[in-house]
Parts: sequence; C-alpha cells; structure tokens
Amino acid sequence: MPPIPGVESATVDLLYGVSVMSHLPEGMQEAWLGEIARVLKPGGVALLSVHGPDHVPADADGDWTADFDVRGFGFRQDGGTAGLPDFYQQAFHRSDYIRRHWSRWLEVLAVVPRGMADFQDLVVCRRAS
Ligand SMILES: C[S@@+](CC[C@H](N)C(=O)[O-])C[C@H]1O[C@@H](n2cnc3c(N)ncnc32)[C@H](O)[C@@H]1O
Repeated sequence: MPPIPGVESATVDLLYGVSVMSHLPEGMQEAWLGEIARVLKPGGVALLSVHGPDHVPADADGDWTADFDVRGFGFRQDGGTAGLPDFYQQAFHRSDYIRRHWSRWLEVLAVVPRGMADFQDLVVCRRAS
C-alpha cells in the first residue's frame, strides 16, 4: 500500500505499472491512483496496463462477471499466485469504467486495447496541470 517511500509529492515526470492494476482489488487500486496523483508533477504521465474485455474468458461466470457487465469492473478471486498475498488476483476493466472512475484522481487521456506489448490494455493518464 502507499506511500512510495522517499518519493516527494509532485516530483515524477513519468510512471509506469505493467500488469499491476490488473491484479489488485478495487480499494487498493484507488489507493494507488491517489498515490500516483500525489507523486506526479502537474502534467506528469502514468502508463498503467489492465486486463480489458478481450481478456475475460468466454466461459467466465460468477458474481465478478455480473459486476463487469454492470459496472465495467470485475475482480475474479478463484485462484492465486505462488509467493504473492491472497489479495493478488485478477482484475478486469472496461474503458468506460476507467474513464468514469479513475478520473477522480487523474485525467484519462486514452485507453488503448492491447496497447501494452500487444497483450494488456494500456491506460494513459495525466495529472492535471
Ligand atoms: C504480473 S507482475 C508484473 C511485474 C512486472 N511489472 C512485469 O511486467 O514483469 C505483478 C506485480 O505486482 C506487484 N504487486 C503485488 N501487489 C502489489 C501492490 N499491492 N501494490 C503494488 N504492486 C503490487 C507484484 O510484486 C508483481 O511484481
């Protein structure tokens, strides 16, 4: 959880998180969005990758898929990753959710399908000047 030790507010030009938001529960994502907004300089940019609609398995079911359909955010908790805590699961984001929800903390400039290494969707954000 934030804060990032030793990083002063408004000192970062560019920050990236590859395949991080795609695994965190919503509350933890919100905490990190607040932290990212804190450390970025005005006009600073964050590149964050997420699992987009293409990554939802065709045979997916359960409450998280209903949440994804209704809100555009789903958190699938039916597994885990060896060596990482239980909270570390699989998050799925639709671009309308990102634009609506993440804009509480950052300007959302673009959501590029498969824009990160032709796999995860790439979200380009900026701290307002
Ligand atoms: C799928 S790996 C991606 C690692 C690296 N960015 C890459 O692309 O190879 C997800 C990363 O999220 C990190 N992580 C797990 N929980 C986190 C949290 N609460 N806040 C920030 N990062 C976290 C893990 O340590 C892990 O390195």
